Amino acid sequence: MGKFDDVRLHLRGRSYRWLVTGAAGFIGSNLVEALLKLGQQVTGLDNFATGYQHNLDQVHEAVGSEAWTRFSLIEGDIRDLATCRQACAGSDYVLHEAALGSVSRSLDDPLLSHGTNVTGFLNMLVAARDAKVKRFVYAASSSTYGDHPALPKVEDTIGRPLSPYAVTKYANELYADVFARSYGMETIGLRYFNVFGPRQDPNGAYAAVIPQWVAALIENRPLFINGDGETSRDFCFIDNVVQANLLAALADKQGAVNQVYNVALNERTSLNQLYLMMRELLQERFPQLRQHQAQHKGFRAGDVRHSQADISKARELLGFEPTHRIGEGLKEAMDWYVRHLAPQH
Ligand SMILES: NC(=O)c1ccc[n+]([C@@H]2O[C@H](COP(=O)([O-])OP(=O)(O)OC[C@H]3O[C@@H](n4cnc5c(N)ncnc54)[C@H](O)[C@@H]3O)[C@@H](O)[C@H]2O)c1
Repeated sequence: MGKFDDVRLHLRGRSYRWLVTGAAGFIGSNLVEALLKLGQQVTGLDNFATGYQHNLDQVHEAVGSEAWTRFSLIEGDIRDLATCRQACAGSDYVLHEAALGSVSRSLDDPLLSHGTNVTGFLNMLVAARDAKVKRFVYAASSSTYGDHPALPKVEDTIGRPLSPYAVTKYANELYADVFARSYGMETIGLRYFNVFGPRQDPNGAYAAVIPQWVAALIENRPLFINGDGETSRDFCFIDNVVQANLLAALADKQGAVNQVYNVALNERTSLNQLYLMMRELLQERFPQLRQHQAQHKGFRAGDVRHSQADISKARELLGFEPTHRIGEGLKEAMDWYVRHLAPQH
């Protein structure tokens, strides 16, 4: 039996109190759903800056009314320390996902990204420390590798950040490390690499590539690939991210705590390959896509050229075993995309 099976078995037999920040967002709402399905008590904190009530409504529908009674939401902002204290009170575990994502957004408005991602993060650390939570697991980012050319990326070899967003996420790691050493807190940072799956926002200027492209393909609209399309990423399906969070929260192996871990597959897919995979998957339902061709535009500022994670540290210390490769994740998410992104007739 794998470590994740052990963790789920343990959780089914024992109910803890979890705080999930960013609960109305893509990753947060998937964490809430998984925890409620495992019988846990969950508080969500979100200010709906980029999250949606409909994400929470979908969780409610997925878990059913009985499980939903174990969820409560605090609508509030992590930039406010009193709100963070209220949210952390009585929590065993914190899964801190609230932040403003997107490299481009941070280049457009670095102060806004700093306020949420650094000041808000520090508020959460202080509140979690004072509430004496068992462990603080937080969303770090592959952007921390910056301009370091080595592939695959190994946790302790990073370069210079390429965007304000990357600075904020690296600052999270530095603060978490200092809080661990100065106050004896238990923290774990998870460096996510391009996560995708149900409930990821397809709309707006800062949308991630997969939901943005699925929405364009479903409507047979023009689709633009940044640069020559040979930029590559280690795309990671949401179920792998949920697994990493639960493993991190309950990790008990010597040396596993107060670390950062890559969370991905150790696989690299170029944007051109991604486009072809998605078009092929959607062609069965939308035959007109056989004629669809992607167009290319300029490279995007602040983008890392290639990204691929070495995941041996997470495998060894957390027992992380990703269940979905990119193709499997895309296939699994397709029903959701079609149901939620196809235009209503
Ligand atoms: N999606 C990815 O590929 C990816 C990759 C690396 C890291 N991350 C990190 O994972 C986390 C979750 O990302 P996501 O993709 O689910 O994004 P998301 O935008 O869907 O979710 C973020 C949530 O945080 C909330 N939020 C933002 N500012 C807040 C504030 N001041 N107070 C309270 N809530 C606030 C938003 O309303 C939203 O619901 C973020 O920390 C992000 O930086 C994501």
